[in-house]
Amino acid sequence: MLQSFRAKELPKVEEAMLTFIKEHTSNEQLEKSMTYSVKAGGKRIRPLIVLATTVSFKGEVDTDTYHVAAALEMIHTYSLIHDDLPAMDDDDLRRGKPTNHKVFGEALAILAGDGLLTGAFQLLSETSLEPTKQVLLFQLLAKASGTEGMVAGQAGDMAAEKQQVSLKKLMSIHRGKTGALLTFAFIAGGILANQTDYVIEQLRKLGQHIGLAFQIRDDLLDVIGTTEMLGKNVGQDEKSEKSTYPSLLGLAGAKEALQAELTLANQIVEGLEEVEDFESSLFNELITLFEL
Ligand code: IPE
Ligand code: IPE
Ligand code: MG
Ligand code: MG
Ligand code: MG
Repeated sequence: MLQSFRAKELPKVEEAMLTFIKEHTSNEQLEKSMTYSVKAGGKRIRPLIVLATTVSFKGEVDTDTYHVAAALEMIHTYSLIHDDLPAMDDDDLRRGKPTNHKVFGEALAILAGDGLLTGAFQLLSETSLEPTKQVLLFQLLAKASGTEGMVAGQAGDMAAEKQQVSLKKLMSIHRGKTGALLTFAFIAGGILANQTDYVIEQLRKLGQHIGLAFQIRDDLLDVIGTTEMLGKNVGQDEKSEKSTYPSLLGLAGAKEALQAELTLANQIVEGLEEVEDFESSLFNELITLFEL
């Protein structure tokens, strides 16, 4: 069911991103560079969460929903372009293709990231959502992406290289660099489906557990996965002496931590079954995507 939902809905998110870039970029090389990273694909997990959450609470999926999902994926794609830069993780493979800076050079890669970040908010401003909802989504997306969220987490990640940090600290880095955007995906879906403060709070908790689980899984796959499977080079975290769950807890400990987060996520979904509007089948399938 999730598979057919994905196949039906995600092309519309991709189209929203590509159309926006084509219509609003007045420099040809910049347009090529932004389009390259967007078209390279990826799992599109964040837009999938926005759409699946909206639908699971009987919300309507329309052009505005696709635009919110597209804005989030544009920010995520920018974060990957910058994450791969030589000054950060210095990676040369992403989504099965050479990284943006390897193809377009560092300057254009930085600018493509800037363009995707700024463009995401421009795209959000073009929705026909009622103004209070639109402003709320603006604020939440800015918080999730910026200095309270992803950007802060990335700064923490860089500072934690070649260091032994506490598990508490690592958890807060992961919640920022990865958890914040994933949490936004759940909350945005709830807001688009006009849900109550109670449901939004549950979605925030769910997002935090899934966000942490996602980065623990990513850290694990960097050790036990393959380049073919992931479309990015493995073993990079050890090379850069990153602080990760496997480096701190070992493989078994990291796997346990992942499972613990998924159990908590499942409990929240069970609790949501009490909500009249909620239909849990897509969510139950969604959570299995984060298993190892
Ligand atoms: C990679 O995210 C970066 C992390 C936050 C771990 P994804 O694994 O969602 O990357 P794509 O979008 O599928 O390429
Ligand atoms: C990146 O985490 C999180 C982002 C905000 C992009 P990683 O550095 O572990 O992501 P990968 O492994 O390069 O995809
Ligand atoms: Mg990184
Ligand atoms: Mg990286
Ligand atoms: Mg990683």
